[in-house]
This record gives sequence, C-alpha cells and structure tokens, in this order.
Amino acid sequence: MEPEEQTSPAVEVRQARADDMGALLTIEQQCFNVYYYDYYMLDRRDFEFYLADADSLFLVAVREGQVVGDVLGPVDTWRDPPSAHIDSIAVLPGHQHQGIGTRLLQSFLEEVRRRGCTRVTLEVSTANATGLAFFARHGFRQKRRLPDYYARGLPALFMALELG
Ligand SMILES: CC(C)(COP(=O)(O)OP(=O)(O)OC[C@H]1O[C@@H](n2cnc3c(N)ncnc32)[C@H](O)[C@@H]1OP(=O)(O)O)[C@@H](O)C(=O)NCCC(=O)NCCS
Repeated sequence: MEPEEQTSPAVEVRQARADDMGALLTIEQQCFNVYYYDYYMLDRRDFEFYLADADSLFLVAVREGQVVGDVLGPVDTWRDPPSAHIDSIAVLPGHQHQGIGTRLLQSFLEEVRRRGCTRVTLEVSTANATGLAFFARHGFRQKRRLPDYYARGLPALFMALELG
C-alpha cells in the first residue's frame, strides 16, 4: 500500500487589498512581537502607504479564505542596478514551516524580475535566527552589518540576492 500522502490546503498568492487590513495587522502583531522588532512593527498607515504606492509590490498568501502571510517592499527599477527591497515578510506562526514563506518569496522574486530587477536586498536582525536561515537558504548573502539599525544595540545584517 502506498504511504498516505501529506496534503495541506492550497495556498493562493495575490496582490494585497484594502480589505486585508485586519489580517495584516494581526500577522504583524503575531510575527514581530519580539524585542528586536519593537521599534519596527508596521501599522495601519504603513500598510496603507504600500497599498497605494504603485512602485511597491505587496503580496499576501491566502489559505482557505484566510490571509496568513505577506511580503512587501519597493521595486526601484530606476536604481543601478534595478533593485527591489523586501521591507517585510511574515507568515502567521500557526502556518509557518509549511512552505508558505517560500511561496511568498518566490512570487515576489518572480514579479520583480519580470519588472526588470536584477537585485533584491533586505535587512534582518542578527538575533533572528529563523529569518537568517530562511534568507540564506534562498540564496541571500550577507553584505554588511548595520550597527544600531533597529535601535541602539540592535544590529541588522544587510543581505542581497543577485537575480540570475
Ligand atoms: C521567515 C518566515 C517568513 C518564513 O516563513 P515560513 O512559512 O515558515 O517559510 P517556509 O515554510 O517556506 O520555510 C521555513 C522552514 O520550514 C521548512 N519547511 C518548508 N516546508 C516544510 C514542510 N512542508 N514541512 C516541514 N518543514 C518545512 C523549510 O525547510 C524552512 O527551513 P529553513 O528556513 O531553516 O531552511 C517566518 O518564519 C516568519 O514569519 N518569521 C517572523 C517574521 C520574520 O522574522 N520575518 C523575516 C524578517 S522581515
């Protein structure tokens, strides 16, 4: 007998919408409720900015009708080289480690490549071991350390991925 296949509910990745706001705020509170992101959490006005900004890419992951993750950041095709920056990526804790972060990241990378970007950058806290492992596994390389980036004594690593 064949081993039973593990199936998880399908995940759709789409553009974020204004009516996602409640879910986005919940994700933010649940995912960045740690000391090193105390000064960094996005609020309603931040999300409204990304929703309205034509030069930003803002995607959500939807599973069984529930928004369970998001990724967002500016797409600066005018830069040399044309670059995008991931300002935030997050998946609700109960939905992590099931490939949803990877789906969001891949969708972000595909779309910014389509718009002409050859580089994607981000900052991640040196204390965020899960985030560091996630980005490293997806090919991001550490470029430099940014002391006091989140607050005094809370450094970040600046990472970059060159899109082939
Ligand atoms: C970083 C983050 C977005 C990753 O989301 P995720 O949905 O857990 O990502 P994935 O499931 O694709 O990958 C996470 C891990 O699960 C593993 N995984 C993926 N699918 C899996 C599955 N079906 N079963 C078991 N493990 C699985 C991956 O190997 C990966 O391991 P690694 O990162 O140590 O290499 C999530 O941890 C998060 O929201 N963290 C809080 C916010 C944050 O720190 N964001 C980054 C800074 S902005």
